[in-house]
Amino acid sequence: MHKLPPNPDELGRLDLDDILGTIDHEVRQRFGEGEVADYIPSLAEVPKDRFGMALAMLDGTVHAVGDAREGFSIQSISKLYTLTMALEAAGDALWTRVDREPSGDPFNSLIQLELERGIPRNPFMNAGALVTTDVLLSHHADAEVALLAFIRARSGNPRISINMEVVASEQETGFRNVALANFIRSYGNLHNDVQAVLDFYYRQCALHMDCVDLARSVQFLADGGRCPSSGEQVTTSEGATRINSVMMTAGTYDAAGDFAFYVGLPAKSGVGGGIVAVVPRVMGLCVWSPTLDGKGNSLLGRYALHRFTRMTGLSVF
Ligand code: DON
Repeated sequence: MHKLPPNPDELGRLDLDDILGTIDHEVRQRFGEGEVADYIPSLAEVPKDRFGMALAMLDGTVHAVGDAREGFSIQSISKLYTLTMALEAAGDALWTRVDREPSGDPFNSLIQLELERGIPRNPFMNAGALVTTDVLLSHHADAEVALLAFIRARSGNPRISINMEVVASEQETGFRNVALANFIRSYGNLHNDVQAVLDFYYRQCALHMDCVDLARSVQFLADGGRCPSSGEQVTTSEGATRINSVMMTAGTYDAAGDFAFYVGLPAKSGVGGGIVAVVPRVMGLCVWSPTLDGKGNSLLGRYALHRFTRMTGLSVF
């Protein structure tokens, strides 16, 4: 049944644990659909029969189900953190180096880069994230330390770390990323050493987190840029609105139209099977199931988000 968005009273009466239980039950009937990402060998080893979902409400309450506390490789979800930090570092000048239009092409596509002279379409494609990574390397004395501090503070979990096995796996097989980085460099849109940019990029993708960490880490985007875990104003409310809008149009690559159609929330996915999403003024949330659809988004994760917005009415539309 399709529901209209709830008013605040109705929101308080939603039985979120019951809704999560229903979704968990439905998703588990569908285990086996989709394929794990095998172009990064260490991701191909992750068990397929996993599903977790966590809702981090702005009052601090967390609702979680299934494998919500099992860690996984966040992959491109990290592009959300690097965009936020690069916007703080470079301000609006960032948009002269990376655009904010949907791509309609796969996340690791090279084709637009030549036509658009080394300016990536958006910060959520691999090419765009290589540019935000470059901005962070220029801005911070130790960009990795800054990124880890950012993520630990956003999620309230000081133990979050990088899985070095995944880094090694990406270093061995990241031929497209090597090509993208060199191509962008040829247009003068990377300022640091290409190998240093790639190394830091792989380390972000290999951050290991669980659904609860990730749901908490995007709460600031639901709360006008303020992080409830640390009390810090991470970005302005205008900044949060803008990041959410780029997530809506480009956070799930060439499936962003389908996501708006079926889910209706700003969302960012990764090939590790995680998807974070934001319900403005209400919660940050995360789903994880490792098997992907043809466009690199978690197949059952997307189904779970679709069921969630239909059962609660919590789509932005
Ligand atoms: O660079 C890559 O291809 C991966 N480390 C990240 C890709 C990714 O997660 C795209 N997501 N859907």
